[in-house]
Amino acid sequence: MTEVVERKATNVHWHDGEVTRGDRAAMLGHKGVTMWFTGLSGSGKSTVAVAVEKALTARGVLTYRLDGDNIRLGINSNLGFSAEDRQENIRRVGEISKLFADTGVVVLSSFISPYADDRAMVRKVHEEGDLPFMEVFVDCSLEAAEERDPKGLYKKARAGEIRGFTGIDDPYEAPESPELHLRTDKMTLEEEVEAVIKSLQDRGIIV
Ligand code: ADX
Repeated sequence: MTEVVERKATNVHWHDGEVTRGDRAAMLGHKGVTMWFTGLSGSGKSTVAVAVEKALTARGVLTYRLDGDNIRLGINSNLGFSAEDRQENIRRVGEISKLFADTGVVVLSSFISPYADDRAMVRKVHEEGDLPFMEVFVDCSLEAAEERDPKGLYKKARAGEIRGFTGIDDPYEAPESPELHLRTDKMTLEEEVEAVIKSLQDRGIIV
């Protein structure tokens, strides 16, 4: 994996506080984690994340969603869709996810994140911080995503009005060993939510 950022800040040092991650988990009654939803545009990442957020909140689990479109309207509004910009998008969002997970939140991050190296970078950042990270492959065929076309973007990409659209004229590298594989063209939304919740219970993140 290539080195992603040139470190410009020098003479900076990590500073620990007195309240620990364990203190926060005890307060909340669950651990923090980043669940990383990756898949084509229109595969169902946001739909699953919204439904999981609702189900977890109802169970008293502090949950927060980070979503590609939303984040690109704010902190990442200066980034486009070149491989370089997508990498920086994922790097920043990976770091933000890590901070939230450290607070004890169940973070649901939905980004196309088409490059395996970029996803591996986010995983590494979490592993180095001793924080749980789960890659969730939100899998549906390009045909099904294009058929759904909830934002009308595939149509525009086919018409040549959008260039470099994932799945059309830009790559998507499917995960090889995700912690969870959701076939959104074969499973119901309820089954998907159930699978996500079970995977969190199996790992001892929530009760
Ligand atoms: S990522 O590739 O950098 O992970 P991200 O998830 O943040 O992408 O944003 C994807 C969303 O941006 C899509 O759901 C779609 O609404 C919009 N979008 C606009 N242009 C493109 C493009 N060229 N490729 C993919 N998505 C695009």
